[in-house]
Amino acid sequence: MEPMPFPRVIRTVGELQDESDHCRAQGLRVALVPTMGALHEGHLSLVREARARADVVWMSIFVNPTQFNDPNDFEAYPVNFDRDLALAGENGVDVVFAPGVEELYPQGAQTWVEVEGLSESLCGASRPGHFRGVTTVVSKLFLAARPHVAVFGAKDFQQLAVIRAMERDLGFGIEVVGAPTVREADGVAMSSRNVRLHPEARIQARGLVKALDAAERAVLGGELSRDRLISEVETILREMPLGETDYAELRDPISLALAPEFLSGPTLLALAVQFRRPEGGDEGLVRLIDNRLLDPTPTR
Ligand code: PAF
Repeated sequence: MEPMPFPRVIRTVGELQDESDHCRAQGLRVALVPTMGALHEGHLSLVREARARADVVWMSIFVNPTQFNDPNDFEAYPVNFDRDLALAGENGVDVVFAPGVEELYPQGAQTWVEVEGLSESLCGASRPGHFRGVTTVVSKLFLAARPHVAVFGAKDFQQLAVIRAMERDLGFGIEVVGAPTVREADGVAMSSRNVRLHPEARIQARGLVKALDAAERAVLGGELSRDRLISEVETILREMPLGETDYAELRDPISLALAPEFLSGPTLLALAVQFRRPEGGDEGLVRLIDNRLLDPTPTR
């Protein structure tokens, strides 16, 4: 079989903008899949979603320093550009945009994009500045690629909500699409961080999806009490001795406001757990998130 060609790699904003102009002049629809590399099946599902919605698919690979509130997390972020490029090529990505840090954050850069409100709860509360970094870099990627559509994973539910709000508020004119979470065989949500888990923590991480499944079953069985649902979820999360729950919350899926005492419509169950190594210490901490939309009134 013929090896798949590597995608074209573009390193500068100017060149990507020229390519965008070129595509638009030819009437081609451009989709962008923003990533930080360390590609896994979840990213490749975003590429497939993008392909279904556009003529050309571009992927950005940029480990964005400004969204890491913890410098150790940034240092430990897995990087393997050659592997990513091969995977992108095999999966039909046409262009990979891989700028250096100075290209997106020129010396003296002092402009930030921040979505207030939506960025403040959940991950925003535990990771100060995280969403400011995300919305700033995504704005830069949007302005560089000027895509028609951009695809993000729904595992990062809050990120998706924040980016949708930013897109709407700033009028980028880009369709923001959320693609469903892809899971490992045992149900754990795919994440670039999974490979950094200690093997014991990786097994325990199944507790997140177990908690989501239990809550979903409870709601379908008629349990509507927010407190009772959270208590059931927290009990399951406590069964992971290497995991410390950062949050387990029920929230409105649009506004992210706290859910009412008794659920009355589709509600987001959002979880974040920090895993440590069995030997303890601050080395090798890995934070996982997952979520499920619970619907007490599903249409049959
Ligand atoms: O979800 C991610 O991988 C990142 O937050 C994103 C959207 C690529 C911005 O750096």
